[in-house]
Amino acid sequence: MEEIAKTRELLLERYNALADKKDILKASELKILLAGIKNIEPSKRAAYGQAVNILSQELKAMVANEADTAVELPAIDVTAPMDENALVPDLLPSSNGTVHPISKEIERISDIFYRMGYVVEESREIDDQYHMFEALNFPKGHPARDDYDTFMTEEKDADGHQLIAPAHTSTMQNRILKKYYANLEKGEAIAAIVPDRVFRNEDLDARHEHTFYQVEGVYVAKSVHAGMLIATLQTFLEEYYEQKLQVRVNPFYFPFTEPSFEFALSCPFCRGTDAACKVCSGEGWVELLGCGMIHPNVLKAANIDPNEYTGFAFGCGIDRLIMMKYQIEDIRHLESAKLDFLRQF
Ligand code: FA5
Repeated sequence: MEEIAKTRELLLERYNALADKKDILKASELKILLAGIKNIEPSKRAAYGQAVNILSQELKAMVANEADTAVELPAIDVTAPMDENALVPDLLPSSNGTVHPISKEIERISDIFYRMGYVVEESREIDDQYHMFEALNFPKGHPARDDYDTFMTEEKDADGHQLIAPAHTSTMQNRILKKYYANLEKGEAIAAIVPDRVFRNEDLDARHEHTFYQVEGVYVAKSVHAGMLIATLQTFLEEYYEQKLQVRVNPFYFPFTEPSFEFALSCPFCRGTDAACKVCSGEGWVELLGCGMIHPNVLKAANIDPNEYTGFAFGCGIDRLIMMKYQIEDIRHLESAKLDFLRQF
């Protein structure tokens, strides 16, 4: 073994001086070591052979590395006139690509809310149970936790609770309230939207996807009331659809808003005339969003005094908004990556 260590030292020294580095692999000292393996007594042969092999691999790696770094890139003069043989990247024609309809519509939605004074925030693709449930006034063991068909991961947070793929954008409410708390102290409102992706372990059909998009809205200030919520949503929807609309507001239940409502839009496919309509099942209305006045416990979880401030929140299905706008009969087209569908946008 001492002999191998000495040869290694000698070869490394020689390597540094060599003009053509790969000559080191032809060194007679290395050949002698390799040839000598068979003469080593059997009990020591495996260890000896392994050590010689490691040295041989080390030298080969050094030579390969040198060859990589020695490649010289041709100099390209970007100011010179185009030459057919010049090294330029092969680009696909830009006419082959279009912006995905969901991205396009998220831009439009964000623009409308931005003009109403809302900031735009992003959600996340993995979250914890505190933001999915506790901060939203779902106590432990609350049956409404099951309504969300949440995908759980095997990984756990510091408290030993499984992490989740967020089933709605409401997981961002607590973070928004905390992040923009200073607005309230300055006498301004907290006004934010979060358009992002959510995941549910759903039975799929023309209206239900497992992966879809929602836009969450959060507005908190002094003396905010439900009339402002309805007016904001009606203004948004009429601006988005560029027309006066028929909407239906029904009482509903969410643990994180009180009172809570469900907003529906009249079905643009059958207007309630087709009992077999795939989109509204003949009801004549398509549920677009849930909303309500933020529950005092949700404000308290973000250290906001519910006696001083009130607010509203809403969560709207973006895929459903798009379906209604372009009369898309099946939500699953949107995540399908079918080019003949996507090229229409
Ligand atoms: C919620 O997700 C609540 N977080 C909404 C909310 C926010 C209420 C803030 C109050 C305050 P819901 O599960 O109803 O509620 O979903 C909201 C909207 O997401 C639905 O109206 C629908 O437009 C859309 N949506 C729900 N499930 C699906 C699905 N599987 N596929 C496509 N869109 C869906």
